[in-house]
Amino acid sequence: MEVVIVPDAAAAAEVAGQVLVDVLRAHTAPVLGLATGSSPLGVYRYVVASGVSLAHASAVLLDEYVGLPTGHPEAYRTFIRREFTDHTDLPEERLYGPDVWVAGPELPAACAAYDALLAKLGGVDVQLLGIGSDGHIAFNEPGSSLASRTRVKTLTGATRVDNARFFDGDLDAVPRHVVTQGLGTILEAQHLLLIATGAGKAEPIAAAVEGPLSAFCPASVLQLHPHATVVVDEAAAAGLQLADYYREAYQHKPAWQAL
Ligand code: F6R
Repeated sequence: MEVVIVPDAAAAAEVAGQVLVDVLRAHTAPVLGLATGSSPLGVYRYVVASGVSLAHASAVLLDEYVGLPTGHPEAYRTFIRREFTDHTDLPEERLYGPDVWVAGPELPAACAAYDALLAKLGGVDVQLLGIGSDGHIAFNEPGSSLASRTRVKTLTGATRVDNARFFDGDLDAVPRHVVTQGLGTILEAQHLLLIATGAGKAEPIAAAVEGPLSAFCPASVLQLHPHATVVVDEAAAAGLQLADYYREAYQHKPAWQAL
């Protein structure tokens, strides 16, 4: 795992954004894995500002709320279009997410179909991730199997409180259920790129990067991936015991070695 510590959120967005731009330039049919929430917003702005083309790309969502009407402003498909893909030349039909709009009993089949779709696309080239205050990635809450596949999960109370800010502070409006790529599904991406900024992320980042590999901190599953990059600002890096080593390694990174 490579940990990149930068001064602030703007620098973090630049470092992570450039990774996406490089993938988009290098591949003929790149597949981007997209996260929602606040953490990736600067990354999306960076990619849009770069002017790189997404005309031959596909984009796949990590997760989606269950129970919001299609087109709801906080549905993740709507969010990602508003914040990112509508500002690019990504063909609309190549933005994919799990189909949560089927009847409840059909959700397991829709989850399996989503895993099959990811495989059909040839896998994800780079998966952008944020981290929850309880250590979740995508919506794999603590206790999620490290081998899990796309499935229905129940959000923790803490995550619903965190996300109420997107629903005008109305906790009751935050869905309890979601469909999320599993940790095993996420591990199949070629490159995992996690971005975290702000003091509120210091504890989960320390647990994910330097704590034990454990379902209690789902983001610790990044320790199993051969190509995982964690981009943090100083505030989110505050709990890292080996911060000086990570800084030194990044400062002396060989010029030929990409992130
Ligand atoms: C959303 C997602 C979540 C968020 C996490 C952090 O697609 O996958 O894991 O990345 O909840 O959210 P923010 O970035 O809003 O702090």
